[in-house]
Amino acid sequence: MPIDLHVPAAVRHSRLIAWVAEMAALCQPARIHWCDGSQEEYDTLCQQLVEAGTFIRLHPAKRPNSYLARTDPSDVARVEDRTFICCERQEDAGPTNHWMAPEVMRSTLQPLFAGCMAGRTMYVIPFSMGPLGSPIAQLGVELSDSAYVAVNMRLMTRMGRAVYEVLGEQGDFVPCVHTVGAPLAAGASDDSVWPCNPDVKYIVHYPETREIWSYGSGYGGNALLGKKCLALRIASKMGQEQGWLAEHMLILGVTDPLGSKKYVAAAFPSACGKTNFAMLVPPPGLEGWRVTTVGDDIAWIQPQADGSLRAINPEAGYFGVAPGTNWHTNPNCMASLQRDVIFTNVALTDEGDVWWEGLEADHGGQLPQHLIDWQGRDWTPALAQATGAKAAHPNARFTVAATNNPVLDPAWDDGQGVKIDALIFGGRRSSTVPLVTEARNWVEGVYMAATMGSETTAAAFGQQGVVRRDPFAMLPFCGYHMGDYFQHWLDMGAKIEQSGATAPRIYCVNWFRKNAQGQFLWPGYGENMRVLKWMLDRLAGQAQGQEGPFGLGPRYEDLPWEGLPFTPEAFARIMALDLQDWQVELQSHAEHFASLGERLPVQLEQVRMAWAQA
Ligand code: GTP
Ligand code: SPV
Ligand code: MN
Repeated sequence: MPIDLHVPAAVRHSRLIAWVAEMAALCQPARIHWCDGSQEEYDTLCQQLVEAGTFIRLHPAKRPNSYLARTDPSDVARVEDRTFICCERQEDAGPTNHWMAPEVMRSTLQPLFAGCMAGRTMYVIPFSMGPLGSPIAQLGVELSDSAYVAVNMRLMTRMGRAVYEVLGEQGDFVPCVHTVGAPLAAGASDDSVWPCNPDVKYIVHYPETREIWSYGSGYGGNALLGKKCLALRIASKMGQEQGWLAEHMLILGVTDPLGSKKYVAAAFPSACGKTNFAMLVPPPGLEGWRVTTVGDDIAWIQPQADGSLRAINPEAGYFGVAPGTNWHTNPNCMASLQRDVIFTNVALTDEGDVWWEGLEADHGGQLPQHLIDWQGRDWTPALAQATGAKAAHPNARFTVAATNNPVLDPAWDDGQGVKIDALIFGGRRSSTVPLVTEARNWVEGVYMAATMGSETTAAAFGQQGVVRRDPFAMLPFCGYHMGDYFQHWLDMGAKIEQSGATAPRIYCVNWFRKNAQGQFLWPGYGENMRVLKWMLDRLAGQAQGQEGPFGLGPRYEDLPWEGLPFTPEAFARIMALDLQDWQVELQSHAEHFASLGERLPVQLEQVRMAWAQA
């Protein structure tokens, strides 16, 4: 029997209505809920999630209007192995993406989606990536059988009724279909607190027809389809066709003590410090400086007629890593998390508040005597000592609206974006790569980004701590051939040069170098302001550096050291470029380039050969 669509009066878009009807016929939900994005709707859905056992309401005074969700232990991170780019020709997806022919994928998914929402509600979630009505923004509609997804999308995007208005009768939108892949048998009630499909997962993109289909997972980037799927994989392809960039970058504003302001965008791989850098608090000694946040994960960057680059953050909230966050490492983040937060896979205290590894630093190193861990089991310090059991999952996250951030940049919601003055790329490397290097030109900067390496983290399912090449921090997120993506970046630089403008300078950083004992050589966090200040001084023509075999680096005296005891010897260790290590690194770049095949731009191989001989 066809399900009643109950189309709200605000929806006047016949193609949208026809598509919802078609998807309802396929997925067979018990009912349809068109989201309006209101506070009332959010509160109602959260209450339903509490009643279903998916959400635990946190202590109303300690953590007002906040919830804890615990996922199935099999559903804790992005699944890169199950992520597909389905363009017509395999060579257009390139060697770094999983590919399947669109018609083969469609016939694989068809039986999986048939009846996949049985017994559940289909939420129609209209959203805008970017300020509503901005010329840079893109609209999407996600159909999902997860109320958890609906409430997270309200925090992470501009979601709700206003999107129906902007869509009008025939506006463009990216259709996104998501199911947890756990249909209910007729008459059965849902007794799972985290429905998902432990065996079958597909995160599928059709970049040519701009569609997203996600099956089997309820978590983060697998399920909140505006984020990695639309704003990175699909948008990167749009950008390639239309001459702009969709990047895995934070955007921050930085104001010097005299009030002069610049904007910087920085790409670090997943769980490598974007949220921290975007909310940085300058350390003692540099109090006159101020950092404000435009975005913490994604940047859409568009070249302007005058050769400048302007960027927006397409998101409206943060889905950030909880472990390691505390009042010392990221006070602005802690302030953002005081209320109105959805926590996922953190631990629960006996008082009904949250806890994760790293919070002990706020309590003089003292661990709580008892917790409920992210899997709902008892946790004690003794147990942790004996078994290494973590109270929070290493990829535990918080979802919070950007408006909770005390240092939100005044231009964060500006549809015209902000002008970018510098670009930073940084991996997590325990050896070899110096603290900071300035590229001598755009092409060298693109080379640095293209060859970026990073040790893998808990943000993706799989082995942790192994170095892999993660070009531009986009390895899991580029929706087309990586060689073509490098060429797109080179073309962007050439275009800026032709317009007579000065391209943003490009820097390569590494906050994560370690000594032989495995300790970090650089204090990181707020202290990264010292490196940022050097970059800005360079832009202003007020700081020196010294040429090395690989770009230009600061000397000890070029960085400000007020307030930080850091010796010239320690600085030499963090800046050292061992020539033997460097030759090994260049060899590994050669293998990386070879793996990309014929579409690797020759310009990049030329840089490599020049460096290998220097
Ligand atoms: P995604 O949301 O996965 O894209 O990650 P992200 O890049 O925003 O990562 P985030 O800022 O959340 O940082 C992840 C981890 O890196 C946390 O455990 C931080 O404590 C740690 N971290 C961040 N900045 C620094 C730093 O400067 N030094 C060191 N040693 N660790 C850092
Ligand atoms: C990342 O893994 O880079 C994230 C988290 O930002 S997720 O949205 O789950 O992909
Ligand atoms: Mn990310």
